[in-house]
Amino acid sequence: MCGIFAYLNYLTPKSRQEVLDLLLTGLKRLEYRGYDSTGVAIDSPDNKNIVMVKRTGKVKVLEEAIQEHFSGADYSEPVLTHIGIAHTRWATHGVPCERNSHPHRSDEGNGFVVVHNGIITNYNDVKTFLAKRGYDFESDTDTEVFAKLVHHLWKTHPTYSFRELVEQAILQVEGAFAIAVKSKHFPGECVASRRSSPLLVGIKTKTRLATDHIPILYGKDDKKLNPDQDTDSGKQQVLPRSESTSEFMPLEEKEVEYFFASDASAVIEHTNRVIYLEDDDVAAVRDGTLSIHRLKKSLDDPHAREITTLKMEIQQIMKGNYDYFMQKEIFEQPDSVVNTMRGRVRFDGNAIVLGGIKDYIPEIKRCRRLMLIGCGTSYHSAVATRQLLEELTELPVMVELASDFLDRNTPIFRDDVCFFISQSGETADTLMALRYCKQRGALIVGITNTVGSSICRESHCGVHINAGPEIGVASTKAYTSQFISLVMFALVMSEDRLSLQQRRLEILQALSKLADQIRAVLKLDSKVQELAKDLYQHKSLLIMGRGYNFATCLEGALKVKELTYMHSEGIMAGELKHGPLALVDDSMPVLMIVLRDPVYVKCMNALQQVTSRKGCPIIICEEGDEETQAFSSRHLEIPRTVDCLQGILTVIPMQLLSYHIAVLRGCDVDCPRNLAKSVTVE
Ligand code: G6P
Repeated sequence: MCGIFAYLNYLTPKSRQEVLDLLLTGLKRLEYRGYDSTGVAIDSPDNKNIVMVKRTGKVKVLEEAIQEHFSGADYSEPVLTHIGIAHTRWATHGVPCERNSHPHRSDEGNGFVVVHNGIITNYNDVKTFLAKRGYDFESDTDTEVFAKLVHHLWKTHPTYSFRELVEQAILQVEGAFAIAVKSKHFPGECVASRRSSPLLVGIKTKTRLATDHIPILYGKDDKKLNPDQDTDSGKQQVLPRSESTSEFMPLEEKEVEYFFASDASAVIEHTNRVIYLEDDDVAAVRDGTLSIHRLKKSLDDPHAREITTLKMEIQQIMKGNYDYFMQKEIFEQPDSVVNTMRGRVRFDGNAIVLGGIKDYIPEIKRCRRLMLIGCGTSYHSAVATRQLLEELTELPVMVELASDFLDRNTPIFRDDVCFFISQSGETADTLMALRYCKQRGALIVGITNTVGSSICRESHCGVHINAGPEIGVASTKAYTSQFISLVMFALVMSEDRLSLQQRRLEILQALSKLADQIRAVLKLDSKVQELAKDLYQHKSLLIMGRGYNFATCLEGALKVKELTYMHSEGIMAGELKHGPLALVDDSMPVLMIVLRDPVYVKCMNALQQVTSRKGCPIIICEEGDEETQAFSSRHLEIPRTVDCLQGILTVIPMQLLSYHIAVLRGCDVDCPRNLAKSVTVE
């Protein structure tokens, strides 16, 4: 989804070239989120104007355009204070093209320029309002109305500060957004805000910061302007200017750099000190000082926003020796699964402690049912662990796609426990579902990979899966770590059940061997690559299995679809004769997962149904299982593990297969077309 990166240096001399380089690097770090066009805005050399460069396509295209645009101009002169804003756009309103790319401007003179992530749902009303007042629109986007609305407010309220103008504009718009605004009328200032879309502020100072928080300020008057009360209608507005109780609460440092970004990976190479903004926070920098304001006072507001120290390392977001992030992330799984269990599973004492939810376990044990809610791959991790959760918790477990769950207005009760599974912690549908359940009094448990994300902050308790940053749009290591987090939860829930101790022991032992077994599966890479060569020119791939491996079929098919643009379907083998069998012939590629578990005989039945229709499936089976292998000339052998963890080992060949097919088909592995890593719109 769209990415915002803005940079402000105060009394820290930087040439415009350096500012542009910083902006471009920031955008490159956000590329993984998925986008189709880009743009930047910086001050012109005489500081009187704002220059914008925008392009359709990759950041590289923008980089070339910037070089061309500024060739001949002297951009090497250091500037004491400068603000640059930059954006990667994932089209929602209007096709990807230069005209629709951000930043968007208020007027031909570039008085106010805005970058925006999210959707302004009432943009049509605002547009009509502004059009009546003579504003012409040059793009098809919702964002443009924001720039023009700020301009309109500035015209009608010349005494308002930049922050107040932006605040008033925010009060007029509905929907989800993160925004950063720059203005030639307010040089040296930047204002940013968020509602339901992530935004953080990175702070870099020469010496260690003297404070670990920024106090929250409130306006004396947060009254929303009546949009019809403007100079055009002949009613001169006499709205009081909203004075803050204390206008600025400065950081003590004089020389400072600020970074506004959609996520931490864009700022980590500059600073590890960040503030995660909350919904309706307005962060403003003026005279080098950051202040955070709230539009409305609420009783549960804290007094300050904490400055958090990021634990992330820059190497974690670099590709290293791999060709693609996705490839790196697949191969990181022996380590990432261990990191998920680190400090939580004690293999010697067979004990598990999940610090983030341990105080809530008694309440969870008393609940009516468990609901597991997510989207895409995160949803599949719920499908993969549902059976074990039912077995070890002896509770009803519902697994829900967040969008469908909301569409149905699903009944939720105070004694429900709702798990929200999300790698990014920002997926709009999942977040909306969380708020829906929270309002109805359910206990909210977050399972996320992103510390400080919205789902993290809005949950009552939760588990960080600790898989490390995942950059490839197609999720891989986050899936296996979500899977393990839910398995650990099931083990915690069954700790005091005597009848389940043998089963728990078996699972714990299997968990201890998992990293080595994943390493063994990864050795299949070249064999999988050979299979990919046979498959990559086909139009379709069916993936069949059942029981603990049905989730692998769904997840494998999703990986194939999103990465290779081939049709692929995950089929529950039990449903084969109810339709999908009609697809099978001697030319349809089929992959079947047939392991020695309680559904082995049923899987063998399905396998025979396929082979007797001249299908020749590729089989994923257990090491040395010659009897099963005899049904196909091509098979991938995986090590034996306990039934409920098989899904971790069977999904890896599927990740590798989709990766290799995507490379062979010349697809963009890390940023598949039309997709985004963090889907922050509904
Ligand atoms: C997008 C990504 C998927 C991901 C899904 C849910 O569609 O492309 O890879 O599974 O969002 O994301 P989440 O961050 O909530 O796990």
